[in-house]
Amino acid sequence: MKILFATNNAHKLAEVQAVLGPAFTLLTPRDCGVEEEIPEEQPTLEGNASQKAHYLLRRTGLDCFADDTGLEVEALGGAPGVHSARYATDGHDFDANKRLLLENLAGQNNRRARFRTVVSLLLDGKELQFEGIVEGRILEEERGQEGFGYDPLFVPDGCDKTFAEMSADEKNAVSHRGRAIRKLAAYLHSIEK
Ligand code: IMP
Repeated sequence: MKILFATNNAHKLAEVQAVLGPAFTLLTPRDCGVEEEIPEEQPTLEGNASQKAHYLLRRTGLDCFADDTGLEVEALGGAPGVHSARYATDGHDFDANKRLLLENLAGQNNRRARFRTVVSLLLDGKELQFEGIVEGRILEEERGQEGFGYDPLFVPDGCDKTFAEMSADEKNAVSHRGRAIRKLAAYLHSIEK
């Protein structure tokens, strides 16, 4: 099955393709002639995932899915949450975002955090959402070179490594996105579309 996924982020694409497996071929917005940035202006992950999927359906007429992820830090009242991509600046500046997070947690003993992903699937115009959560903690300094975003600062519960010290398979086995996408895959297999 070919299905359009609302990302041009190569890391995310590879993660999601690895979880879905060879039965699914992912198309990117660019593959379908969508070059502009896809709007995500809602105050929740659920709203943004839905907005992105509906935007792509309107632009292409194709079945598609979109995800939105936030890092929710307990001591910061759930921030950066839905603002995770634009925490420090208006762009997607991963380094500035990590610096600001460390600054805001300086001297803080409670380092509890979780990643939460919401996936919106639009199939034959009908919408379904799937959620994936991973609980963990934020380190005081970065470790590891893999992955993207806040990966070098996040250690999932039950692990010694940060996401950035894990292989793609190790991260997918426990990650927020891996969990949400496995639910999506189970649904798609169940309807044998
Ligand atoms: P998005 O909604 O998936 O684009 O995620 C928003 C922001 O959350 C990204 O710009 C990253 O900073 C962060 N993020 C999302 N997924 C991950 C991940 O798997 N690891 C680390 N950071 C992530």
